[in-house]
Amino acid sequence: MKRSNERINTKKFKKHILCIGAGYVGGATMAVIAARCPQYLVIVVDINQEKVKRWQSDNLPIYEPGLLDVVKSARGKNLFYSAAIEENIRKADIIFVSVNTPTKLFGEGAGKTADLQYWEKTARDILRVSESDKIIVEKSTLPVRTASAMERILNSNDKGIHFEVVSNPEFLAEGSAINDLENPDRVLIGAQQTEEGQNACREIVEIYENWVPRERIITSNIWSSELSKLVANAFLAQRISSINSISALCEKTEADIGEVAHAVGKDSRIGEKFLNASVGFGGSCFKKDILNLVYICESYGLSEVAEYWERVVSINEYQESRFVQTINKALFNTIANKRIALFGFAFKANTGDTRESPAIYITKKLLEERACVVITDPKAIENARLELEGLDGNLEFQADPYQAAVNAHAIAVVTEWEAYKTLDYQSIFQHMEKPPFIFDGRNILDHRKLFEIGFNVYPLGKHPLSHL
Ligand code: UDX
Ligand code: ADP
Repeated sequence: MKRSNERINTKKFKKHILCIGAGYVGGATMAVIAARCPQYLVIVVDINQEKVKRWQSDNLPIYEPGLLDVVKSARGKNLFYSAAIEENIRKADIIFVSVNTPTKLFGEGAGKTADLQYWEKTARDILRVSESDKIIVEKSTLPVRTASAMERILNSNDKGIHFEVVSNPEFLAEGSAINDLENPDRVLIGAQQTEEGQNACREIVEIYENWVPRERIITSNIWSSELSKLVANAFLAQRISSINSISALCEKTEADIGEVAHAVGKDSRIGEKFLNASVGFGGSCFKKDILNLVYICESYGLSEVAEYWERVVSINEYQESRFVQTINKALFNTIANKRIALFGFAFKANTGDTRESPAIYITKKLLEERACVVITDPKAIENARLELEGLDGNLEFQADPYQAAVNAHAIAVVTEWEAYKTLDYQSIFQHMEKPPFIFDGRNILDHRKLFEIGFNVYPLGKHPLSHL
């Protein structure tokens, strides 16, 4: 297979698209664009050469169901991965930027606003090597008004080159990224209301029109587009914090969170999705984007609005800590030297991603209490090891959940992997310390059946089923 872009017949393509940053967003989005638009040449570059090599192989750097098939359908035809950033910037007509924008850890806005050093470096690379006009597309989530800052940096050149910055936030969720990209609820493109801005907007619309119905492609001004991404994530996270807060109340009363969520979600104005109580939301976006929103509000003096959204994050932290407290309390107020098997470490099912996973907090707290923590996960063990590197304590990684549970005092379900629903819990029961406990942080197991096997079962937002 031809993998380097040195020998590509570039003339046969309508436009050259470059994506800088081959992570979850860039990697998946470009694979779908390339597969759906054979007339465009799509090159994906990254500073991490190891990552580039893996994109060129069948051992992709991320686990995402269906992604490898899409990559293979276009790779070597109009989709190429490369470490040659400058050369590809020069040749590109349209550059998507999807480098990481983590929460800033230092200085002004530390812990809240986005760290834009990767984005700014990219903008400066583009500025330094470009020899022709280009459209720059913001794919990474960025603080509102970043586009204007970037446009100022880019257009401060004396080469006579014009850069038009467009915002096209990504709404894909990990684990369902391919379906989200192929059948999006909407595609959002924000551009300046100038003639150049509108021309650039049309060019991006033209890409998506290859497979997305026109009425699902929304265009807006650039600030609305940037803000909409933050607000969409804030609303989604808010639903989870809302239901999680009610799960605490259910545990104190005779109410059952599943029944409450069902009854509430049946109201079509509320809707049924995103009402699953859990150990807490994780992932690279929710917390980062809300804190970003909080920072923006604070910087405009809107302290009431900032406080309102900040509570969504604090309820999430409360939910994580409540889970550990429930484990500790049920295990007779001491978990020192007790073996606790965490079923799942990824922040959600169907991904190997562990960024901001509630499992990180839970593991740290359990280790602080001197428990022996055994981590199992079908796809995230590698990332779990990296995430927990350097932590003191009794920590073990086990690919096989049955092995993880041997001699354990308790199992805590942290990720809602399908596979955990159908394990042979009778056999697991036999090999555990007695009395055995299961804490179902995702409410995915058959609690009555587990209780009948002999487990003491602690679901979320429901009464525990205990033999003690
Ligand atoms: C999210 C947004 O959904 C997506 O549109 C955006 O582009 C990126 O951020 P992602 O973080 O990949 O996507 O996953 P998502 O499915 O939103 O789940 C986020 C977290 O919420 C996970 O930890 C998940 O387990 C949790 N969650 C989700 C719940 O606890 N309960 C629910 O009902 C739904
Ligand atoms: P996301 O989940 O938003 O896609 P990731 O962290 O998975 O974020 O991906 C971002 C990618 O951007 C990483 O692979 C990182 O190596 C890459 N990257 C960061 N800075 C640059 C840069 N200046 N040039 C090229 N790639 C970069």
